[in-house]
Amino acid sequence: MLMEAHSSREAPEAFRLRQAEAADFEGLRSLWALFEGTTMTGVDSPGGFGLFLGRNPGMSFVAVESEGDRSERCRIVGSVLGGHDARRGYVYHLAVHPDFQDLGIARRLMELVESAFSEAGLEKAHLFVYTDNPAIGFYERIGWHLRSDIHVMSKLLDGDADPAHPPPEAGERGHAGSNTERGRS
Ligand SMILES: CC(C)(COP(=O)(O)OP(=O)(O)OC[C@H]1O[C@@H](n2cnc3c(N)ncnc32)[C@H](O)[C@@H]1OP(=O)(O)O)[C@@H](O)C(=O)NCCC(=O)NCCS
Repeated sequence: MLMEAHSSREAPEAFRLRQAEAADFEGLRSLWALFEGTTMTGVDSPGGFGLFLGRNPGMSFVAVESEGDRSERCRIVGSVLGGHDARRGYVYHLAVHPDFQDLGIARRLMELVESAFSEAGLEKAHLFVYTDNPAIGFYERIGWHLRSDIHVMSKLLDGDADPAHPPPEAGERGHAGSNTERGRS
């Protein structure tokens, strides 16, 4: 599936939106590595990514530069991963390359994943966002609402959790990808 999309601004760059493919993983990892707010975990591996796409077909999307030969694999400049458990949809790894922000790419990506959820019969979707991430303003702008009635509870299932040593508080945490509570959200 290919979706044409061009910026309404005067920006010289244009982009295309399409479904994510397993072969996109390296390009996606390069994109995600730009943002501390995009937590990389053990499932962010080529195998884990392929498994995620296989379990949630047609729910993850990328934005690619539209320049160049379309037979080539163009640079990935935006992403969103959608998954579901047959009850709720979940959104992961929304990101847009800084050079391509404010062009409406994230809005379009979210529209695609929300439509995919609706077509699958899902009535509601959730996402996780760190409390200090400015992206909250974006999500509110496109109609998501911040919950004040729910806490997220988490548990590492590999025996790594040590109740005597709770995870560090904000400010002491490592960056995304480190082996902290935040890095393994
Ligand atoms: C958040 C992010 C995905 C937005 O991407 P984007 O492509 O620049 O967003 P869009 O251009 O689609 O913005 C759509 C609208 O939201 C607004 N918006 C964008 N970021 C916003 C923010 N941080 N706060 C408030 N509004 C915001 C835009 O101004 C635009 O408003 P409009 O309706 O008047 O046009 C991008 O800033 C990003 O990649 N951030 C880093 C990664 C990240 O933290 N992702 C979230 C992980 S949970």
